[in-house]
Amino acid sequence: MLSWDNFIQEKTQQIPNLRTWRAKSGYNRRYLQLAEQNLLNFVSNDYLGLNGDPRLIKALQDGAARYGSGSTGAPSMSGYSQEHAKLSANLAAWLGFADCLLFNSGYQLNVGLFSAIIDSNTHIWFAKNSHASHIDGILLAKAKFTTFTPEQISSIVYAIETEPTKLHIILCEGSFSMDGSCNYLAQLLELKQKFPQQILLIIDDAHGVGALGQSGYGALEQQGLDHRLVDLYIGTLGKAFASHGGFIAGNAELIHYLRHSVRSQIFSTMLPPAQAAVSNAALAIIQSDKGTQLRNKLAQNIATFKQLAINFGINIYQAEENISAIQLVMLSDLSQLNMLHQHLLDKQILVGKIAYPTVAKNVPRLRISLTSAKAPEDIAKLVATLAEKYHQ
Ligand SMILES: Cc1ncc(COP(=O)(O)O)c(C=O)c1O
Repeated sequence: MLSWDNFIQEKTQQIPNLRTWRAKSGYNRRYLQLAEQNLLNFVSNDYLGLNGDPRLIKALQDGAARYGSGSTGAPSMSGYSQEHAKLSANLAAWLGFADCLLFNSGYQLNVGLFSAIIDSNTHIWFAKNSHASHIDGILLAKAKFTTFTPEQISSIVYAIETEPTKLHIILCEGSFSMDGSCNYLAQLLELKQKFPQQILLIIDDAHGVGALGQSGYGALEQQGLDHRLVDLYIGTLGKAFASHGGFIAGNAELIHYLRHSVRSQIFSTMLPPAQAAVSNAALAIIQSDKGTQLRNKLAQNIATFKQLAINFGINIYQAEENISAIQLVMLSDLSQLNMLHQHLLDKQILVGKIAYPTVAKNVPRLRISLTSAKAPEDIAKLVATLAEKYHQ
């Protein structure tokens, strides 16, 4: 029978893997605190363990005391505050760009960005396995696009050389959320340098900014590359910053244009000023010696995990190249994925269970998200527990 009840039931049945929502009851840097138990948490994006830091909580309280709990409007109406202005200026100065534009989230940024920077003469090349927000933004823009793998970078060169009147956007992530480090960032920078006028190079380093590289400039810095050579540098404030929001940094003209053209920013209530105050406080830590210490600890934890996994004969994805906080244990099929995930859960360890449609059908994986707040024994426990059933 035609009815909304049936429609929703059918649609729900078509979802291949329903995700589990676990309501946490508080915050702990190592555990996901649930009402009944604590799970050793390997699914958090709090890469530097800053969530719950007293300086961030105080910034939130002081910001709310000064500005109230919300921003009360869109940025061009009543929503913009001195705390936002300070955050834009601080992020731009830290990263070495002329200007920076804030958004309510990285997703909201990406979903609105592409509509503003394409027309019938532009072509978007974006990396295979890109984040959902890139795909959604590009589809919303009705842009002409091609996805690429590193082996196909030569096709971009060919297209630019054979169609010199077209403009090209190249979009890639510093660390892919389901695959870890991008190992062809250097090639993309070279391409930008070869065709400076035809290419707009955009790097979204949601998983790198603050967390990776000696100074926290992200995946490019971690790979010995200069992040300032990109045209637009995208980051989130919801991961290493333990705050909330997204930002895009670039040259003054570009950011000025985006400020007045990206609809997902113009027509939405601005982030609360108190949240911007949290991001400012987090940035101060990220820029300080403490920030360097936390990044070193994270790098150590990544190295420890990789070494232990290799010692136990566990197949991790691109063991050499993947130096990001996201590590992947590649599995042969869904039953092995479910079995290992459940085995870890039985031992109070939570990791990501990643299957189709998040990744292709033949490459299910466990996703291990490492943070600086993990102790070496946490990582040892994870790998040893995994190894108990991995080879069965
Ligand atoms: C590459 C990338 N861009 C954007 C986002 C979304 O950022 P936010 O969580 O601030 O919406 C994510 C989130 O995981 C991401 O991985």
